[in-house]
Amino acid sequence: MYSLALLLCAAALTHSALAVKVCPRPPEVLFATINVVKNEYNVGEEVEYTCRPGFVPNNGQRKYICQPTGRWPLNTLLCLPKRCPAPAPLQHGTIDSRDFHYRSSLSFSSVTCAPPSLPEFGVLSYRFLKPGNISYFMDTIAFECVPPLALIGNETATCQANGTWSSIPECRAVTCPAPTGIENGFLNFAVRRTYHYNESVSFSCQSRYVLEGPKHSRCEKTGNWSTKPSCKEPCKIPVKKAVVLYEGEKKRVQSDLKEGIMHGETISFYCKNKEKSCAYTVPVQCVNGNLTLPFCFKERGFFSSLVKTDPSDMKPCEDLK
Ligand SMILES: *[C@@H]1O[C@H](CO)[C@@H](O)[C@H](O)[C@H]1NC(C)=O
Ligand SMILES: *[C@@H]1O[C@H](CO)[C@@H](O)[C@H](O)[C@H]1NC(C)=O
Ligand SMILES: *[C@@H]1O[C@H](CO)[C@@H](O)[C@H](O)[C@H]1NC(C)=O
Ligand SMILES: *[C@@H]1O[C@H](CO)[C@@H](O)[C@H](O)[C@H]1NC(C)=O
Ligand SMILES: *[C@@H]1O[C@H](CO)[C@@H](O)[C@H](O)[C@H]1NC(C)=O
Ligand SMILES: *[C@@H]1O[C@H](CO)[C@@H](O)[C@H](O)[C@H]1NC(C)=O
Repeated sequence: MYSLALLLCAAALTHSALAVKVCPRPPEVLFATINVVKNEYNVGEEVEYTCRPGFVPNNGQRKYICQPTGRWPLNTLLCLPKRCPAPAPLQHGTIDSRDFHYRSSLSFSSVTCAPPSLPEFGVLSYRFLKPGNISYFMDTIAFECVPPLALIGNETATCQANGTWSSIPECRAVTCPAPTGIENGFLNFAVRRTYHYNESVSFSCQSRYVLEGPKHSRCEKTGNWSTKPSCKEPCKIPVKKAVVLYEGEKKRVQSDLKEGIMHGETISFYCKNKEKSCAYTVPVQCVNGNLTLPFCFKERGFFSSLVKTDPSDMKPCEDLK
């Protein structure tokens, strides 16, 4: 009795030893580094993220502990660019402003716009700003936000007749929730974490399923993921026995095409023209698990297959013209 208990106990220990899990490398976070980088972490081990110089943690935890399940908790850390002090708005009376008055008096009827003030939390690209940073009526400037911030609003602004800019966009931190998988497919390198604007993930399908749509999905300005692809089902061939044409070759459904065909692929069935004693082929396509047999196709019974020629062995009707 005692030894049996010992045996059971030993078995339980062995079992639990085998079941001990490890965590994989924790997810990478844009603009962050991890204190301990390894390929495997023991349960209970902790990692700490640090935002790279110039970036600050905006929300989410910095420390994560490897769970007994062998997974990391959902990573919600984001590193955002440090907020730069907004430049002093260029008001009348500053040097630039005097400069612009000077210039505007030179080109008499010209309207000018002062450089726009920078939006909070971002940098604007003055791609089209002219030397001296003076813009005239109808001039256009373009804005950009420092990654990973998203530009919300109009990317361009025009200098209006009254000396103001048509619109100034905003640079905003946008995040998308951890992406979800797709039916009959999976996320590549799936990591459970929050994503920044414009980060993307890619998908693959299970074996014999065909990926349709964009392989990548991107975190959009709306905080949603862009359209994900779908995985299209293969088709079983709904006959027990037949010779068909597949990829230009005669194949036996019962042996060569047991697995069926994949979405988008075509097979041709042989149909008989009784009057002319010839056979012709009718192609059908696999559409997401659906394959419709041609109306003229007759599956042959056991006896008929013994005494009659298979349509695939008959003269092709096209040759009889
Ligand atoms: C024009 O604006 C840019 C961006 O703010 C600044 O770096 C540059 O020094 C300005 N140039 C002049 C001549 O004021
Ligand atoms: C953005 O502003 C430009 C002028 O700079 C204007 O022509 C365009 O229609 C605006 N676009 C939108 C989507 O409002
Ligand atoms: C300047 O003109 C635009 C467009 O005509 C107008 O929407 C805006 O209110 C004006 N701004 C000022 C300060 O007058
Ligand atoms: C988004 O990312 C792609 C690369 O994946 C890059 O080419 C593009 O410029 C980025 N767009 C913005 C608005 O940051
Ligand atoms: C995107 O997300 C917003 C809420 O954040 C939702 O109202 C909207 O319907 C979503 N758009 C799409 C295309 O899913
Ligand atoms: C197969 O076709 C039928 C009728 O056309 C349709 O209702 C069904 O959704 C299709 N199945 C698949 C998997 O596409």
